[in-house]
Amino acid sequence: MSKKVGILVSGRGSNLQAIIDKIDDGTLPLQIEVVISDIPDVYALERARQAGIKTVVVNRKEFADRESFEDKLNEALGQVDGVVLAGFMRILSEKFINKWYHKIINIHPALLPSFVGLHAQRQANDYGVKVAGCTVHFVDAGTDTGPIILQKVVPAYFEDDEDILAARILEQEHLALPEALKLWAEDRLEIVGRKVKIKL
Ligand code: GAR
Repeated sequence: MSKKVGILVSGRGSNLQAIIDKIDDGTLPLQIEVVISDIPDVYALERARQAGIKTVVVNRKEFADRESFEDKLNEALGQVDGVVLAGFMRILSEKFINKWYHKIINIHPALLPSFVGLHAQRQANDYGVKVAGCTVHFVDAGTDTGPIILQKVVPAYFEDDEDILAARILEQEHLALPEALKLWAEDRLEIVGRKVKIKL
């Protein structure tokens, strides 16, 4: 029986699409129960609908506080085995994270622990790094600090701007997230302190 996930999105949904494509071609044994967006009318919702996946909008602006917003997220998630943050741009509370302890997986467009938070690709480009990349990790109570499942590296060039670098990283994100989810779905990840052991 494949694991069931809820996927949280806030925008374009290209990482969501990468997951859908791998499920469709039979290489990712995962069931997407629901795609939830905190912003109405984003393209990720359209992608989910086109794939026949249930969608829910939990518009943060309609909730007085984070707690009631997250209660609604939990209601929409129901009884899934895990939660995937695929371009979800909100910080989740400790309470929410503890409820899903070690069951939330996030993709971040930088080589953590460098360049946490927003506009990671801009931060990397401005800093002048020579390599950049993406990180898939379990979520803990910090911002982009949880145990790392895998990372992919790309070169960064003097001539790059934020968009060029982001596009190069994004190509790798589309490989990294499905790859990490496959390891998780196959029960091949073991969290040992800060480290994640990948079992053969
Ligand atoms: C991706 O680059 C993802 O890594 C990033 O947002 C983009 C979403 O694109 N996430 C974060 O920055 C989270 N801190 P997508 O909607 O096309 O998947």
